[in-house]
Amino acid sequence: MKVYGVVNVKGGAGKTHAVVHLAREASLTRRVAVLDLDPTRQSVNWIELAGLGIPALAFDIKQSDLEAYVTQLRQEDDFDVILIDTPANDRDAALETLMVSDIALVPVGVGTSDTGMLGTTERQVKRAQQLRPELKAYILINRARFAPARERDTVTEALKTGFPVLDARIPLRGEYQAAAGKIPAGLHYGEVWKEINR
Ligand SMILES: Nc1ncnc2c1ncn2[C@@H]1O[C@H](COP(=O)(O)OP(=O)(O)OP(=O)(O)O)[C@@H](O)[C@H]1O
Ligand SMILES: [Mg+2]
Repeated sequence: MKVYGVVNVKGGAGKTHAVVHLAREASLTRRVAVLDLDPTRQSVNWIELAGLGIPALAFDIKQSDLEAYVTQLRQEDDFDVILIDTPANDRDAALETLMVSDIALVPVGVGTSDTGMLGTTERQVKRAQQLRPELKAYILINRARFAPARERDTVTEALKTGFPVLDARIPLRGEYQAAAGKIPAGLHYGEVWKEINR
């Protein structure tokens, strides 16, 4: 079982989009479940509304022990892939997620001043990597191919973290903007899924 934690303390970076699209992509070949640490339950709601048939659980880290739960999931071996969605501005949720993840995915939006807060997420990931050197981290550029100069700046900032920036990027698209609650489509996240599992 592999755990993918999607983190960025910046709101609106594309965490929920990444979780639901990657869950859909992974579910074509693997047994997938989603843990949604965001009290607004956007991943859970989307997966239920779209009828994706992917088990999705709203998980409150204040009420329940995430580490114990993930350990139990690893032992039960009912799933190949766990994707964790995290809320904005909740450092505890992000850090706890990083402490149980095999792969951290950090979506960063172009032109949304996301890079201004990237330092916080970078520090969190590096703290987690000190304790768990096996944790891999990747940056996913979101809202790409729209503002080339800003995209270059975003990539430059992202590379300063030292984490690899994925070649696969998610373009800014109306279909993505309006994707919530619908069956996720689009090749871009398929490419992301391949690249983070290489
Ligand atoms: N590639 C894209 N193209 C166009 N719109 C996008 C794209 N990615 C995300 N969006 C839009 O940006 C908003 C934020 O996306 P999303 O909810 O995935 O971010 P988030 O990081 O989960 O936000 P939060 O921190 O509030 O949970 C959504 O309204 C979504 O429709
Ligand atoms: Mg979200």
